[in-house]
Amino acid sequence: MAAMWTAGTVEQLRTERSAMKGSVAFVPTMGALHRGHLALVHAARQAADHIIVSIFVNPAQFAPDEDYESYPRQIEADLAACREAAVDGVFCPPVEQMYPPNIPECTINVPSMAHVLEGEIRPTHFAGVCRVVAKLLNMVRPDVAVFGQKDYQQLKIIEAMVADLAMPVRIVGMPTCREEDGLAMSSRNAYLDTPQRQHARGLYKALLEAKRLVEEDGETDPEAVETAMEQVMMAHHVEPQYAVIRHPHTLAELDCIEPALTGGVVALIAGHLGETRLIDNMLLAEAG
Ligand code: PAF
Repeated sequence: MAAMWTAGTVEQLRTERSAMKGSVAFVPTMGALHRGHLALVHAARQAADHIIVSIFVNPAQFAPDEDYESYPRQIEADLAACREAAVDGVFCPPVEQMYPPNIPECTINVPSMAHVLEGEIRPTHFAGVCRVVAKLLNMVRPDVAVFGQKDYQQLKIIEAMVADLAMPVRIVGMPTCREEDGLAMSSRNAYLDTPQRQHARGLYKALLEAKRLVEEDGETDPEAVETAMEQVMMAHHVEPQYAVIRHPHTLAELDCIEPALTGGVVALIAGHLGETRLIDNMLLAEAG
């Protein structure tokens, strides 16, 4: 097998990409790779002949008061993990390559989904995600791009962007990878101290409680499920920011939980453990 290439410029990436024969699956990341990312790489391998990973901590999706500067960066370890996972090539550009000075900025927006939940708390976040993902897709030109369901709202927005702009790529969403106690894998878990790490399983427990209420008790009132999720979070010292039940495709609020009509529902939660903010979600009562 050929050695893994790395490209730091768009030009190098395009040269490597042009030399690739067969289909290409793309896994965009911000690095600090963990088992969750490697599951995306694994899915990429099932989907295409070649795999390209990008590693780029995207400043455009962080607000000025967020953790852009302190976001974990470990490029050598990430490249080693990619090599180990038989990735064909890694695109790891510096900021000036992705955002060259003197090019007027372009905005892509999916207003129906980008201003609720994460978008309400992080108003510029999804415009930054859409901009970088659209650029990466244009640069890499993959047949398939793989994203985690851990960032459920991001996945739905990217699916909508790709569909509406007729981008020639298939988006694959992969289930969330969890630690043994259920905590969703995330690069930001590294911020948790030992007691916070213990409490963090409260997020998963809250989702399991929602699943039990909807799937076993047949609860149809979204508010009852939302209150129950908040209570479980608080019992685990997680300060809830939101805990909601939404339509699984549009993220719209629901008056009543009717999985047969909507094809299931999604429970989405966000909460703080000290300074660290974590999100998680679970699909409930999906049509089997
Ligand atoms: O999910 C992420 O890691 C990022 O939002 C993405 C999709 C790589 C864009 O920067």
